[in-house]
Order: sequence, then C-alpha cells, then structure tokens
Amino acid sequence: MTDSAPAPFARVTRAWYVACASSELEDLPIARTLLGTPLVLFRGPDGKPAALLDRCAHRNVPLSLGRRVDGRLECGYHGWQYAEDGRCVKVPGLCGEAGKPARAVPRFAAMEQDAFVWVYASPDSDPTEGPFALPTLGDGSVEVRRVVEVESPLTMTLENALDVPHTAVLHRGLFRGGREPRRIKVRVTRTAGGLQAEYLGEARPEGLAAKILSPSGGVVTHFDRFILPSIAQVEYRLGMEAHFMVTSICTPLEDFRTRLHAVISFRTRLPGWLVKLFLNPVAMRIFRQDAVILKAQAGALRRWGGEHYSSTAIDVLGLQIARLLRLAETGETGPGSPEEWAREIDLEV
Ligand code: FES
Ligand SMILES: [Fe+2]
Repeated sequence: MTDSAPAPFARVTRAWYVACASSELEDLPIARTLLGTPLVLFRGPDGKPAALLDRCAHRNVPLSLGRRVDGRLECGYHGWQYAEDGRCVKVPGLCGEAGKPARAVPRFAAMEQDAFVWVYASPDSDPTEGPFALPTLGDGSVEVRRVVEVESPLTMTLENALDVPHTAVLHRGLFRGGREPRRIKVRVTRTAGGLQAEYLGEARPEGLAAKILSPSGGVVTHFDRFILPSIAQVEYRLGMEAHFMVTSICTPLEDFRTRLHAVISFRTRLPGWLVKLFLNPVAMRIFRQDAVILKAQAGALRRWGGEHYSSTAIDVLGLQIARLLRLAETGETGPGSPEEWAREIDLEV
C-alpha cells in the first residue's frame, strides 16, 4: 500500500479491515501491520481509536515505541507529540518558531464496531461507508471469538475458509467423512457484497462437531459467503435445533501473512457453556490443521514463484474470490451481471 512493487496478490486498499480486538487497545499504543504498512494504534483524548503511520516524521523512529500523553501520541525518542489526525502538535524544547511549519504523519481512518478496532487501508481518506457489521443469530445465541494468524495470502486463506472438499480429508473425522458420499447441488450467486454458495440436499455431517450440535439430526441448510474484501462466512442450520455461523474476518498483514478473527455464533438446545466445552477443542484443532496446510501451500507458492493451479468445478469459490479481489483493487466493486457469476455444480460430499 505504500511503495508498490508489482503485487503477486491483489491489495484492496479502499476498504476497512480489523486491526485488533477493542480489548487489545488500552492505554499503550500498539503496532500493527496492514497490507505491508506499519501502523500505530492509540486512543485519542475521547478514548476513540486512532491510527497513524508507525514512523515519526522527525527521525523515523516507530511511534509505537512511544506513549500516550493526554490522548496524544508521544514519540519515545525526542518526544514529538501527535494528535489523532496525525499533526505534530508539540516539539519539546523548541522555543517559538516563525510560520508554524506543518509537520505530520499520514493518518488512517479508524473506528470501533462490534468490539473490533477497524482501520481504513488508504491513508488520509474519509470513507463514507462504515465497516462490515456482524450479524446476530438472535436471542439465546452464544458467541465465541478466536484469533489465528496464518502464513498464507489473503486469497488462499479465504478459499480455505469456504472450501468444502478439503474438510473430509484434512479434517477427517472432525467435520465430514466416515460415510457413503452423497450427491448434492451447489448454487453460486453474485451478491451485492461478494459471492454466495448455497448447498442443496446435504445430509447431516457425521463428524463429532455435528453430533454435538444437533443430536437428533434433520435437514441441513448450508450457505458459504464471501464478503468483499476479506470476510468468509459459513452458515449452517441443522434441523430446527441448531443454527451455526462462523464469520472469519481476515486481515491481510502482508502478502503472505493473514490474521483471521473468527466469530463463531451458535444457537442450540444444549446450554451454551456445554457446547463451548466440546466445540472449543474441535474448532481449535480444525484451525490448526488449516494453518499447517496453508503454510505449506504458501511455501510452495513462493518456491515456484506464483500460482500454477489446476481447478475443477468443485473448487467452488476460490478462483472467483481471486477475480473479485483483483477487480476491487482497481475500485470495481459493483455486483456485475449476475449471469456471469451464477453457476450450478453437482458434487459429492
Ligand atoms: S524521532 Fe520521533 S521525536 Fe525524534
Ligand atoms: Fe479447513
């Protein structure tokens, strides 16, 4: 997002990304990287989050090494102080100055929503639209949040989060697999915010997670959604008794490093604490297995210098996600012609 060598993967800068959880940003400034750019986050005088380029205008020391003084950010070297809009408002020891030259560092729009601190990835802009708003599953739902960092590009992380065929192999026994495959249909549609795949005719999964969530089985409703530029959402209903939604809000830290804030919401007949007790270790095992395979995949992408893929129809969303991200990189985010993106695919799960 700053000096741009040709990027191997799309970098969508006109967008909001999660920089950290609200609880991580307290009295001390913190350093974060977004699309390869170092940022410092701190809370302004009113407690609202602010984000600046993490480089002091004076001698380039990272501002994240400094401290917060009355809601301003003080550099840890000579103590220049910055307001939340990036202006330097104090130079200690400087006795008067004619003309007050403007000294500043680039600032990034920042706001707090759904207990996350969101940062807009283009410097010195004032976006008119806010970040993605987390959906809720209504009364009685329980939420669990987890953060995972993967050594993988954003596109690969998103594809993985929405990829069905790997679940029976990489997560064998935990998610799918262990019974005769069944032929189902997937309907892909372009939505206002991205893409949606609807799985039709799916049997209840046999894995441990499904047994915990829906003891008596029932019809499965399953949607996988990609929401531009960095959100993967899986929604499952198992019969009438279990509703389950995993929203993976991804932050591209660098081309090959992505942080994933997973918000897992569910509603079941069982008490929330009990489901959490069983679900936590299973979910963490699934995330770990994905992180290991994504790192290995990224190693191969680097070694062979790019993407050399063979795909089939059941690689349902990956290539379309990559294409939408490339369009979004140039500012093209409209829904396009629905026919161009819509497909129906048969697969066995
Ligand atoms: S380097 Fe920051 S005040 Fe000198
Ligand atoms: Fe997975």
